[in-house]
Amino acid sequence: MRYIDLRSDTVTQPTREMREAMYNAVVGDDVYGDDPTVNRLEKMAADMLGKEAALFLPSGTMANQIGVMCHTSRGDEVILSGDCHIFIHEVGGVAVLSGANLRPLSFPRGIYDPVMIEKAIRPADIHQPRTALICLENALSNGRVVPIEIMAAVYNLAKQKDIAVHLDGARLFNAAIALGVDVREISKNCDTLSCCLSKGLAAPVGSLLAGDAATIERARKYRKMLGGGMRQCGVLAAAGIIALEEMVKRLPEDHDNAKYLAKRLAELAGVEMEEDSPQINMVFFKLHRTSEFIETLPAKLLEKGIKINEAGQRGFRLVTSNEVCREDIDYFIEALNDLC
Ligand SMILES: Cc1ncc(COP(=O)(O)O)c(C=O)c1O
Repeated sequence: MRYIDLRSDTVTQPTREMREAMYNAVVGDDVYGDDPTVNRLEKMAADMLGKEAALFLPSGTMANQIGVMCHTSRGDEVILSGDCHIFIHEVGGVAVLSGANLRPLSFPRGIYDPVMIEKAIRPADIHQPRTALICLENALSNGRVVPIEIMAAVYNLAKQKDIAVHLDGARLFNAAIALGVDVREISKNCDTLSCCLSKGLAAPVGSLLAGDAATIERARKYRKMLGGGMRQCGVLAAAGIIALEEMVKRLPEDHDNAKYLAKRLAELAGVEMEEDSPQINMVFFKLHRTSEFIETLPAKLLEKGIKINEAGQRGFRLVTSNEVCREDIDYFIEALNDLC
């Protein structure tokens, strides 16, 4: 049975073109630096992301964790948002791997406030940790996009204070499309950045970490230490190349579909759309129904071939991606309307 899957863009399947490229990929032992397909992906990624070098990694989590490891020593402090993926969804990895202290800040709607960040930077004081790193996200995990001016203000502040900036750019290309800029306009406001190939870009596996050549060399060693040195992973990189060459171009379609979904939802009685949603491919809304109705809705929709996640604090989150078309959205709206 074909499901309409609105849970996340991580559910995307590799495309036929990716599968063919994977089958035909010329590979080698990447730990020896011998895999021509990985080398091509890393070079292409560095150019696109506007950095000297890039590294292919199994996941966004590993890319972020290695990014933090590259910029910190034990006991250093990292300023980040209390809502971000590194703080909430990476299993406390920074404590384990970097031994760094996290300083989570609560930003209104998640959008960084350079004044709050400046206040959180530690003074030179024998009692206090050293602020070594600021971690940003764009697009934010909450589906919002951070304006370039804010990223630039944070980066300038960081450089004045000799603090590094790592960007979790799991959905960097979505952010660039929403902001109407080249990704390099975003990436110039950080020292290192991670970027996922396996979300809206539909590759089966893989993320990138980009930065200056010396940092990426250290990151390569950390990746080996963490068991992420992959051998003939050109089969995966081949899909990553298609992700960057072809799939970035079609991401605006996901954003348009999210807008269409939001418009159709807003027409239904009892639906309250989040005021500034959608900005990327994520739609947030609340349903004014009983809590029993809300809890059982995912199971009822599943019977109709639709997958959604349970509601969270902000209500339901629906995500559009490569395998969700307008007809699927119409079918979902009809199914929801019938159940309501
Ligand atoms: C903002 C953000 N950063 C990082 C990640 C981690 O990516 P991965 O699932 O590949 O570890 C995700 C995953 O959903 C994410 O949404």
